[in-house]
Amino acid sequence: MEVFLGEEQIAARVRELGAEISDDYKGRNLVIVGILKGSFVFLADLVRSISLPLTLDFITLSSYGGSTESSGTVRLAKDLDESVAGRDVLIVEDIVDTGWTLRMSRLKEVLLERGAASVRVCTLLDKPERRKVDVDLDYVGFVIPDEFVVGYGLDFDGLYRNLPDISIVKG
Ligand code: IMP
Ligand code: MG
Repeated sequence: MEVFLGEEQIAARVRELGAEISDDYKGRNLVIVGILKGSFVFLADLVRSISLPLTLDFITLSSYGGSTESSGTVRLAKDLDESVAGRDVLIVEDIVDTGWTLRMSRLKEVLLERGAASVRVCTLLDKPERRKVDVDLDYVGFVIPDEFVVGYGLDFDGLYRNLPDISIVKG
């Protein structure tokens, strides 16, 4: 494994994102929705960089019926605990790769149907070379090349989420 984004570099970018979000959501009714498990480290740092009142909620999306890249479907394995009606929702993802997870879950649409005032997406990492379906990303930490990365919440087979840096896994 080779370190690709170091702790300091990640922290600096997360602070910038937090400042941008704090500006954009001033006077709004912010609820941060983390997608488990991958977003948990990013989310913990991001919320501490946002200087606004906010609440937190979590969902788990899981794919079944085969690969998410083909005929698979993505369902809500763990739903939100609180209502999003009238709230400004910011979805927080670790990484957007093919885009299937966000698209197949129809997460944005579902939250709007439930009465959310607005729904935006913040992802730490964006791998646009791998995109199969279009997804609107409102806040992106880093655009990265087509490499498999671990650390800072991201896993390979459940491992490496606890590493403080983001590293590329060499095949
Ligand atoms: P998508 O549905 O292809 O956009 O994939 C999103 C999910 O795939 C992410 O939330 C991750 O769980 C996983 N994923 C995609 N690329 C990577 C990677 O490089 N490292 C670790 N997990 C990844
Ligand atoms: Mg994920």
